[in-house]
Amino acid sequence: MLKITTSPKGLSDVQLKYCRLVLTEESASTHRFVETKDGVLEYRMGAGKWKDIDARGLRTLVRGMIQAAKSHKVEFLAIDFSILHFPKVTTHGEEWLASTIVENLALAAYEFTKYKTKQESKKNLKEVIICNVDSSTAKKGVSRGLVVSSYINQARDIANTTGGDLTPTAFGTAAKELMKGLKVQTTVLGEKELKKLKMGSLLAVGQGTKSETKLIIAEYWGAGKGTGKSIPKAKQPIVLIGKGITYDTGGLNVKPSGSMHDMHLDMSGGSSVLAAIAVAAKLGLKKNIVALVPTAENAVSDDAMRAGDIVTSMSGQTIEVLHTDAEGRMVLADAMTYSERYQPKAIIDVATLTGAALVALGQHASAIMTKDAELSKTLVELGETSGDLVWPLPLWEEYKASLKSHRADISNIATNFSRFGGSIEGGTFLSFFAPKDVPWVHIDIAPRMDSIPSDKLAKGSTGEPIRLLVSYLEQA
Ligand code: BES
Ligand code: MG
Ligand code: ZN
Repeated sequence: MLKITTSPKGLSDVQLKYCRLVLTEESASTHRFVETKDGVLEYRMGAGKWKDIDARGLRTLVRGMIQAAKSHKVEFLAIDFSILHFPKVTTHGEEWLASTIVENLALAAYEFTKYKTKQESKKNLKEVIICNVDSSTAKKGVSRGLVVSSYINQARDIANTTGGDLTPTAFGTAAKELMKGLKVQTTVLGEKELKKLKMGSLLAVGQGTKSETKLIIAEYWGAGKGTGKSIPKAKQPIVLIGKGITYDTGGLNVKPSGSMHDMHLDMSGGSSVLAAIAVAAKLGLKKNIVALVPTAENAVSDDAMRAGDIVTSMSGQTIEVLHTDAEGRMVLADAMTYSERYQPKAIIDVATLTGAALVALGQHASAIMTKDAELSKTLVELGETSGDLVWPLPLWEEYKASLKSHRADISNIATNFSRFGGSIEGGTFLSFFAPKDVPWVHIDIAPRMDSIPSDKLAKGSTGEPIRLLVSYLEQA
């Protein structure tokens, strides 16, 4: 694991063991080592014109530093905080700048090594020292960045774990492990309790496997728990709901080969909301937050739910399962109904819900759907500043008609099997289960489930949208 340290001193004052990263305004592809007299090692890296570097450019630049250090087998790297005060990013403030730098150093350094039996190289990047970190705001940003990135990387470890190892039961254990030392109460409900709650939709998804279906509940009462029939506004929690499908075969509507192998990541929404509440607790936010993760394996077996089955959700609405691979919305539906007991101030659900979201947006942004225009605007802006980009799709009443089932109250895909607007269809299905009059946003993170080369991250989980959730919680 990469150690990130700071020093109030300048780049030229660090020990000789550090390779000093010197930024130039040459094009971003210009990199070279310079060994000066006295054994000082410098790595000169082009960043492009400094006046052009915005928040997006800064994140890419910082990740590029780690990539360069890794590829040149640099073990100790020194970078200069003061040089990174580009005009377009200083407007966000010193704390944001320091946090962003630390986050992206740590995210880029992350590697998933759980299943590697041999170390690839002894010469790993061990430490980055950030020079010229002096002010208390910068130091505050550094410690925020360390907290945020540490939980993001833990969430990536959980997500990257195979479906065989990370069963719903193991996910529950991992959630409790993640909350160790934090003021978060974590409870895991099993099938017996879920039956009592009448969560027929969640249970149907998991019925095809001997892995027991669970509901993971994490509560953080940073503003003090409200009690009684009506909870005062300031104590109403924000409820985060994350899809926790630990492996998605598609069920009896089995996925084609080539589309299944990375479906252990189908619980990334779940790991994200758990990491977000952990960060909130670690940072001591004075907010109430609840995370709900309905978790199940969508398996193929003679016990599996069939296409054409009708199940009764906790809300009482019956659901015709027209497609067993549209299971994410089914597990989220019961969690949305369960959230009512908290009288939430707002609900955010996070799910790797549809391949159609990749068709709509490519792989650079997650899709958001909400009827709350204010919330939509806030999230798009926080996406830009945090790095977890999101972009809106509509949630209009017009879309509801396609889900009107002939045999039950609602079907889990369009009754005419149209694949048009697949992401909106998913969001629309969820809207039937969203508690009335509570601001709610659905985030379809399927586009950001797997990293792509331009991310400059390890292959696999991106850990998105944890930075966005944390930024939202901080300002909520
Ligand atoms: N987990 C998938 C969505 C997904 C696909 C995430 C690709 C990341 C990459 C989800 O459960 C699913 O299979 N959705 C179906 C919905 C369809 C049957 C309406 C899909 O996208 O094809
Ligand atoms: Mg089962
Ligand atoms: Zn599916």
